[in-house]
Amino acid sequence: MYKTGMLKEGALKDKVILITGGGTGLGRSMATYYLKLGAKLVLSSRKIEVLKKAAAEMEKETGGTVLPVQCDVRNYEDILEVIEKSYEKFGKIDILINNAAGNFVSPTERLSHRAFNAVVDIVLKGSYNCTLALGKKWIENKSKGSVLNIVTTYAWTGSAFVVPSACGKAGVLALTRSLAVEWAKYGIRLNAVAPGPFPTKGAWEKLLPGELVDKFDPKTKIPIGRVGDHQELCNLTAYMISDFAAYMTGEVITLDGGEWLKGAGTFNKFDSVSNEMWDVLEMMTKGQKPKSE
Ligand code: HXC
Ligand code: NAP
Repeated sequence: MYKTGMLKEGALKDKVILITGGGTGLGRSMATYYLKLGAKLVLSSRKIEVLKKAAAEMEKETGGTVLPVQCDVRNYEDILEVIEKSYEKFGKIDILINNAAGNFVSPTERLSHRAFNAVVDIVLKGSYNCTLALGKKWIENKSKGSVLNIVTTYAWTGSAFVVPSACGKAGVLALTRSLAVEWAKYGIRLNAVAPGPFPTKGAWEKLLPGELVDKFDPKTKIPIGRVGDHQELCNLTAYMISDFAAYMTGEVITLDGGEWLKGAGTFNKFDSVSNEMWDVLEMMTKGQKPKSE
């Protein structure tokens, strides 16, 4: 069931959606599903050949329209150009998905300041740049808009070994909640989704390189016992960006099979205690009176 599209036909009909990093991974999966729901897509990232190929394949699969535009989200001028080209072709943009990201695992003391900047500039500054540029346009034109930011659960827990990404995603979450309040008066909604592990080439190569993929199999940390299926994220996000979610703003929805909560609960690791052991522990703890009584 969860591998099936959920929203009704035409749920995003004629919506124009800009997805940064939309030529690969989760961005590509979301783009393909939104096309199936009637949207028109603008995909932007640094590698134009990857975007063009993805766009052609998506158009073939869905019969929809996709505009690929090269852009480094760290560069504000690039984003203005994406917006201009989108308005030239479609006359508008209704929805922005800040999906582009950079990441790698490393002990922080091994990083140069440039490495830190590289990630924070893509994740936080890139999301800020796109949101600001498009927000100004929406406000100037008096058009409504919807922004969806892709964060992750360590935006609020933090995480060792991915410190630049954790800082960037935490900032994006703050951006989401702050502007949701400030821009509601303009009819602009901002929400975020926090996925747990959803297999993609990009994330797996950067975060589970070499032996790490076997040593730290993400499934083993997830109460529901499996990684996410891309369609599950597509269903949730399609709802969040659609007009069905018109009353939702400033929200972050977690989709991680219970992963972060399992790490958070003080006694959660006790699920490895056997029934026999629980019998013994119960005898030791139940109805026991202090020796002095
Ligand atoms: C340490 C590294 C490094 C690494 C690069 N650097 N990779 N340092 N470990 N693995 C350093 C470089 O040495 C350099 O510093 C600086 O970072 C900039 O490197 P460039 O290669 O010039 O950067 P750039 O071309 O801008 O590439 C950005 C990138 C790259 C982030 C470094 O990995 C990238 O393009 N990634 C995009 C795809 C991606 O990361 N996808 C995964 C998203 S997954 P010096 O000092 O040497 O100049 C994700 C999941 C989150 O976000 C949640 C999971 C649960
Ligand atoms: P991915 O395929 O590597 O996607 C990252 C995308 O960002 C690529 O298309 C890349 O394209 C683009 N990008 C990187 N730097 C850019 C820049 N400077 N300007 C414009 N585009 C840039 O990885 P993914 O797993 O699908 O990740 C997608 C999103 O989900 C990210 O925000 C990630 O943090 C989030 N997420 C993923 C997982 C997971 O398990 N997969 C979990 C939690 C959150 P170019 O190289 O062409 O620029």
